[in-house]
Amino acid sequence: MKKFTLAFAVAALAAGVAHADTIKVGVVGPFSGPFALQGKNFKAGIDAFFALNGKKVGDHEIEVVYRDVPTANPAQSKSLAQELIVREKVQYLAGFYFTPDAMAATPLLQQGNVPMVVMNAATSAIVTSSPYVVRTSFTTWQTASPIAKVAKDAGVAKAITLVSDYGPGVDAQTAFKTAFEKEGGSVVESIRMPLSTNDFAPMMQRVKDSGAQALFVFLPSGPPTLAFVKAYNENGLKAAGIKFLATGDLTQESDLPALGEAGLGLTTTFHYAVSHDSPENKAFVAAAEKAIGNPAELSFPAVGAFDGMYVISKMIEATKGKQDAKNAVEAVKGLSWTSPRGPVTIDPDSRHITQNIYLREVAKGSDGKYYNKEIQTFEKQGDPGLAALKK
Ligand code: PHB
Repeated sequence: MKKFTLAFAVAALAAGVAHADTIKVGVVGPFSGPFALQGKNFKAGIDAFFALNGKKVGDHEIEVVYRDVPTANPAQSKSLAQELIVREKVQYLAGFYFTPDAMAATPLLQQGNVPMVVMNAATSAIVTSSPYVVRTSFTTWQTASPIAKVAKDAGVAKAITLVSDYGPGVDAQTAFKTAFEKEGGSVVESIRMPLSTNDFAPMMQRVKDSGAQALFVFLPSGPPTLAFVKAYNENGLKAAGIKFLATGDLTQESDLPALGEAGLGLTTTFHYAVSHDSPENKAFVAAAEKAIGNPAELSFPAVGAFDGMYVISKMIEATKGKQDAKNAVEAVKGLSWTSPRGPVTIDPDSRHITQNIYLREVAKGSDGKYYNKEIQTFEKQGDPGLAALKK
């Protein structure tokens, strides 16, 4: 009897039979510390998905297990991902705010038979580090390339770039320069700052001295972005006519109340604005605001998480709840749907999301609240970074 049970268990495992009826999803993100608001947005997006779609896919109930990695910390991310796979027996890994945290966990996926759905981390190369990665956020190549065109159209010939010195920053710098030079512009100086930088006043003098007509900046959303925009205003760059160009990370909605009037007119390109005008977004925002508690805290990681849960639900449906990473990923290649951000598709070759990128300007609504106002759409943008990697 014992022998039979063991043999049966081995055969069942080999066939990839589901772990009972509960399907665990392990979500890694910053849930405490300076970036806790970003992790809170992951959770709000996931809870909004459950509020609108329920927690069940067929007979299978989704259970989310959260793990906190407060800042970029690859060693901690890897060990928590391992613990989620081995001890918690999660069938899916998701979340990952920072690129180094996502990168550190991708080597575990194949052996663990676990897909990873990246809900934020934005370096192009992440999807190439394992065939089991799918991404529902954006890349900085995707968001930074269009702003270069906007710059040129606005008559900017010389720009200076400032980025955090790690994956998405390096990608953003290269993307902006590549696109801006293609438009005939020139980058007079490229500054990379340590990820931990929070005092940007010294950089502002370098920007003034550079002779650039505009600055392009990428930093990870959170305390650094708020500090940078404040430094831009307080050091007289706006007054000196140096145009501000950035990816939408710099004007996330949750930073806008603290920026106040000084934020007005800032132009950015991004995949999502909380103000996006569509029925899908209205339903999403209502559910996500309820989930987060304070509507002023809602920001873009929530939409990456919401769509990430949609992708996971489709994976569960396709594999009938069985743990089968290969077929789960296969099932969502080419998947198209209407996200709160607009129409999207999981590119079947890259497993990264194809989406509209919007030019936005910080404006003040009739209710007195600041928001990112969409003013131009760059439709169906793939990831130019992946093409660049192949060169
Ligand atoms: C990243 O580490 O990939 C990252 C983090 C925050 C952002 C964008 C990218 O706002």
